Amino acid sequence: MDSTQLSVTCIAPVNIAVIKYWGKRNESLILPINDSLSVTLSTADLCSKTKIIADAKFTDNVMILNGKEENFENERIQRCVKEIKARAAELGSCPKELLEWKIHIESENNFPTAAGLASSASGYACLVYSLAQLYDLKKQEISDIARMGSGSACRSIYGGFVQWQKGIQLDGKDSIAFQVAPASHWPDLHVLILVVNDSKKKIGSTSGMARSVVTSELIKYRVEKCVPQRIHSMTQAIKDRDFSKFAEVTMKDSNQFHAICLDTFPPCVYMNDVSHEIVNYIHEFNRTEGETKVAYTFDAGPNACLYLLEKNVKRVLSFVNHIFPNDNQKSAEYVRGIPVEYESEDVN
Ligand code: DP6
Repeated sequence: MDSTQLSVTCIAPVNIAVIKYWGKRNESLILPINDSLSVTLSTADLCSKTKIIADAKFTDNVMILNGKEENFENERIQRCVKEIKARAAELGSCPKELLEWKIHIESENNFPTAAGLASSASGYACLVYSLAQLYDLKKQEISDIARMGSGSACRSIYGGFVQWQKGIQLDGKDSIAFQVAPASHWPDLHVLILVVNDSKKKIGSTSGMARSVVTSELIKYRVEKCVPQRIHSMTQAIKDRDFSKFAEVTMKDSNQFHAICLDTFPPCVYMNDVSHEIVNYIHEFNRTEGETKVAYTFDAGPNACLYLLEKNVKRVLSFVNHIFPNDNQKSAEYVRGIPVEYESEDVN
């Protein structure tokens, strides 16, 4: 190799699940107990940006996240780096010495990491995508490696509407994400994020779902009887651009996920009074409008993600601002939905 330094910079988007991933069957490989489905948001709004420099002269590996040094030996970071390098070595996709060079990784989110807005999904997707660019694994399947960083990250590898199939193999090779439909299929589907509280959640997703798997009775019912049917209905709703069906399944799945969190012992309480008020107001809004114009979904936190069609954005925004004037809680942040395919800014 002529040069002694190589650098890549990539950005990766956040995704918001409409059928939630909750529960693992294998903790270390991050293999889920159910399929999940999400919408990848536009990188113009919420995204992670990662720069990786590989240099023959570096003496240490370094990871900086939002300006703060992280432990490079972190198990999840290690798994992603090792797996990508192993694949590059196996395929001979890049010069051998490049794999020996130490790397400096600098990553940042353009939204508060503490806000519970899927920062690990975009963060790990971005890390793995950037590593794949660095070691020239461009056309390879990498969603299974992103999954080893954080489960939901495997869905952020693709734009548009994305399903993560749980897979059945013990080694997790078939636990991968794939695109159900590209963003261009339904360009007028939008997302509005209501930031109810941007402080860090008390129970992280990883420990919350582990506790649910051990203690919740409802979770078994969900996995066997509900999710397969919901994946089917959701896929059909997306194919038909049937907003009313899409909204119904999204809201029911969010509610069931939080019911499981409450069925967990001790319970995981993520939604707060404002979140529950939002749920009530949205049902009331849809009822008085005479049709379903907006759907809510909540991840492991109190913030609401609202899905709606472009033609209803103005009306819903004015309703939201009227009901939740921007006083002590933050109000609506408008995120224009849906994604671009991946971009890598510079590879030199
Ligand atoms: C509620 O992907 O953050 O957002 O795999 O342990 O890193 P780990 O968990 P994570 O869990 C996300 C859970 C969720 C639902 C979803 O995104 O599907």
